[in-house]
Amino acid sequence: MMLSSVARWASRDCPRTLLQQSCLRSFSSAPAVGAAFDKLGVIGLGLMGHGIAQTAATAAARDGVHSSVVAYESDPTFLDRGRDRIASSIDRLVSKGKLESSDAEAILGKITYTTDRDALNDVDLIVEAIIENMDMKKALYSDLGARCKPGTIFASNTSSLSITQMALASGRPEKFVGVHFFNPVQLMKLVEVVRTEYTDRAAFDDILDWVERIGKVGVSCRDTPGFIVNRLLVPNLMQAIALVERGDATIKDVDLSMQLGAGHPMGPLHLADYIGLDTCLFIVEGWVKDFPDDKSFFVPGILKQKVERNELGRKTGKGFYNWSGDKRGDPVE
Ligand SMILES: NC(=O)c1ccc[n+]([C@@H]2O[C@H](COP(=O)([O-])OP(=O)(O)OC[C@H]3O[C@@H](n4cnc5c(N)ncnc54)[C@H](O)[C@@H]3O)[C@@H](O)[C@H]2O)c1
Repeated sequence: MMLSSVARWASRDCPRTLLQQSCLRSFSSAPAVGAAFDKLGVIGLGLMGHGIAQTAATAAARDGVHSSVVAYESDPTFLDRGRDRIASSIDRLVSKGKLESSDAEAILGKITYTTDRDALNDVDLIVEAIIENMDMKKALYSDLGARCKPGTIFASNTSSLSITQMALASGRPEKFVGVHFFNPVQLMKLVEVVRTEYTDRAAFDDILDWVERIGKVGVSCRDTPGFIVNRLLVPNLMQAIALVERGDATIKDVDLSMQLGAGHPMGPLHLADYIGLDTCLFIVEGWVKDFPDDKSFFVPGILKQKVERNELGRKTGKGFYNWSGDKRGDPVE
């Protein structure tokens, strides 16, 4: 165990160190002393997975956190798309002068792309970021549990599914955690590290330590719906939608109130549109099904109606607001 404090397991309010993410920091070829996860596997290179692979490869090139990052997709088309996403993200940093070309090459050189699952057999840590579907995740973990070496730790980036159910499907629940990154991964500092009743303390502390080594800030949480951030955020979005549904306040006034009265950078209806109303509905419907007695979980009727009409927010051009690409227009009153 890299950090032996049991107190850290129980309560971890404050990160030990905040690694600065300045891209211009000098790179070192020396491996980090005591690195726990020499070889990292990332499964799924979509919105989240490509960011996780890039962040880990940057820490690998800069601080020797990993010797290599194996980036896996089951389909070659999506593998190429993930590779392109990482390459263009790194290119943007170079063109903005935030990264030297030689460092960019070093980062890209740390990643191996593959559709061959055998390449994951001997990695030390797997971070999974495939689509949010419990059956697919369980099937994947059941296979990984059978093929990976006994010491490999599994970490799911799920936003809303039960870590415990996936952990049991893997056949190695003691080596299973949640690592909930935020979008965009390259910029967002927070990672919620989630433990179940089965999680081994040493494995959990090693993951907290890894999160800091890749330049993020870890907070620890038990396997509870929505972990910390979404447990507080999603019911707040539902309350905002319910206010509008009842006609208590307009979309514009709800959002303005939370911006100017609560200091939020964007109002809840704007945020719901930004996340995607289908994603919001998926999360809250899952919670209502699994926790029918919890009164803070409910589905407002207009949310369901908007999703049925394909008014999903930013991505379809209409939700609580009209959208033109990333530009928010007038509210749909
Ligand atoms: N989008 C967010 O803001 C966000 C934030 C935090 C966590 N998450 C979680 O991260 C995970 C991924 O979300 P995303 O938004 O990146 O999704 P995405 O749809 O952008 O990416 C998912 C990727 O997984 C790949 N994939 C699907 N099945 C696979 C399999 N069996 N093996 C390998 N690859 C497979 C797909 O080809 C796709 O590239 C989900 O669990 C989601 O809940 C998402």
